[in-house]
Amino acid sequence: MRRDAERRIAELRTQIGRNDYRYYVLDDPDLPDAEYDKLMIELRALEAQYPDLITPDSPTQRVSGEPVAAFGVVTHKVPMLSLENAFTDEDVLAFDRRIHERLGSEAEANLEYVAEPKLDGLAVTVIYRDGKLERAATRGDGVKGEDVTANVRTIHKVPHRLKGHPPQVVEVRGEVFMPLKGFERMNRLLREQGEKVYINPRNSASGSLRQLDPRITAKRPLDMFFYALGTVEGSGAEDLPPTQWGLLKAFEKWGLPICPDAAVIKGAAGCLDYFREMAHKRSSLSYQIDGVVYKLNQRADQERLGFVSRAPRWATAHKFPAEEATTSVQKIEFQVGRTGALTPVARLEPVFVGGVTVSSATLHNIDEVRRKDVREGDTVVVRRAGDVIPEVVRVIKHVSDDAPAVELPKRCPVCNSEVIQAEGEAVARCTGGFTCRAQRQESLRHFAGRRAMDIEGLGDKIIEQLVEQDLVKSPADLYTLTLEQLSELERMGEKSAAKLVQAIDKSRDTTLPRFLFALGIRDVGEATALALAQHFGKLDKLLAASADDIQQVQDVGPVVAAHVAAFFASHDHRKVIARLQEEGVRWPDVARPSVAGQPFSGMTFVITGTLDSMSREEAQEALIALGVKVSGSVSRKTRYLVAGADPGSKLKKADEFGVEVLDEAKFVELLKPFR
Ligand code: IVH
Repeated sequence: MRRDAERRIAELRTQIGRNDYRYYVLDDPDLPDAEYDKLMIELRALEAQYPDLITPDSPTQRVSGEPVAAFGVVTHKVPMLSLENAFTDEDVLAFDRRIHERLGSEAEANLEYVAEPKLDGLAVTVIYRDGKLERAATRGDGVKGEDVTANVRTIHKVPHRLKGHPPQVVEVRGEVFMPLKGFERMNRLLREQGEKVYINPRNSASGSLRQLDPRITAKRPLDMFFYALGTVEGSGAEDLPPTQWGLLKAFEKWGLPICPDAAVIKGAAGCLDYFREMAHKRSSLSYQIDGVVYKLNQRADQERLGFVSRAPRWATAHKFPAEEATTSVQKIEFQVGRTGALTPVARLEPVFVGGVTVSSATLHNIDEVRRKDVREGDTVVVRRAGDVIPEVVRVIKHVSDDAPAVELPKRCPVCNSEVIQAEGEAVARCTGGFTCRAQRQESLRHFAGRRAMDIEGLGDKIIEQLVEQDLVKSPADLYTLTLEQLSELERMGEKSAAKLVQAIDKSRDTTLPRFLFALGIRDVGEATALALAQHFGKLDKLLAASADDIQQVQDVGPVVAAHVAAFFASHDHRKVIARLQEEGVRWPDVARPSVAGQPFSGMTFVITGTLDSMSREEAQEALIALGVKVSGSVSRKTRYLVAGADPGSKLKKADEFGVEVLDEAKFVELLKPFR
């Protein structure tokens, strides 16, 4: 019995591991979701039966793990070095020249380098013994780092087991980072939940990795690229490739993700070409970089060159010029957001940085203002990174020593209601609710947004006027606006007013998830709105639910449940909802997924091309309501590709994978019984 279980557990782990690799690293899974889930369930059941067979590298341990008390210290057998910096072309030429001098006349005229992006994350080292992930640690001071094994295990791209034939003990090093999209998504979520947002992707990678509770790390969109070797021991140690490029290829074979933008180049000229190419590509990369790294390709040559103090002579980091500039703070103001959150903003003497003129920068929250001690009149450094909002990095010079420090206002700068900062929260809030013009404005903006009620043409300027002139006090008032009222607004012609009336009218037909999201309940983003809608099916049921009931909804914890319950307990909110319904806002009930009669629940669909009878969003919503996962790309996991007119490359991909294709007629037919 036990022996059978042992064998089956090993089988399951291999199968799951293989699929994780295909799914997370190759992005090309070949096992349907449902099958994968079945394997996981079977593995969990067996491990529950034989708990002593649970090993730390089991895939079941990936997302769970009890909080660790504090990080242990790991001493790196091979120190984790830093890199010399090069800032100018001349620095790079000098770097190449020095290497030539040291290697002597035998060296080729054009030395071969591997050029890699310099990733803006944190360096982490991972030790695999007998192919199994044994330990992971941060760089720390280069000699001693923190043991972050449990956290690194939750990064999906980091395999728990290596493939192929790695040395018996091999330490591989790389950068843990947070892709830009993930960073923005995570910050949006944190902001919605009233929590402190991260300042930049590097900060958030390091903050997320150094969580004491790995379950939190597991929820963060971390990623890793490997680029260097640490200790190697035991059999297989001698067979390592002789070049850095060969190493990267070996990493790939072992299942470790490497940066797709690395390249072999020749000579200093090749370095400079690569640098310019990456500088050009930088803003379109999915991850943040702050320069490029050149490494001598031949490892034997690396060894001959050795190190100076803490950096190798055979590598250098060529940094991009900082997208930073110096300017002065004219004023510090507090902006009031939809949920009343007060964000300090520095109004700046306009300055050109990172390709645009910046005249204001965020100071994130009052704690940040205090930490950086920014005051009106100060000379400061501002930074702009990619699409990230410009921020004040640090103060260079105080205007004068006795300039007053910035205080959190006691009253809302817009409506004069009391401002409170709840214990343990970084965010201070205006308590004015809907009586606050700023909150009203932001709520309406949210309500009309593309992902909420999707009222086309209801832009910021119009909302501002509607609120200022008291034409709209609550979202329900939007539905009683007349053509006359709208055409009297500034910069609004007859035609656009008529269009807007139409758009408002069109928004009456919506879906429950959109409606719930549009209400702007604290903590309720799109995903939670969808979960609530699917759980309760009808708004009435949600209105009647207690916080305890709401907590039964998938992924809804006590804090969110309390906010949702409090929102619906408010008499004012109920009145607004009732009025919206009176004004004709309506939606179909939501079918619960995974109940009998839901044949598509859990399947993955992809939609491509233009549909005649509905927009892509509508098609997507209809599917989501049926418990379908709608994905952006075709893989073997795709059950159906819905192809409208001009389907493009996805159709070819579907053909390759043998994915069934539905034309619009067939798709409409398929949906019919559920609409
Ligand atoms: S190689 C001996 N390669 O830069 C070689 N480092 O300043 C040591 N980094 O701590 C590092 N991208 O966090 C290397 N492609 C890359 C890198 C990289 C980012 C970071 C790393 C390291 C720091 C050194």
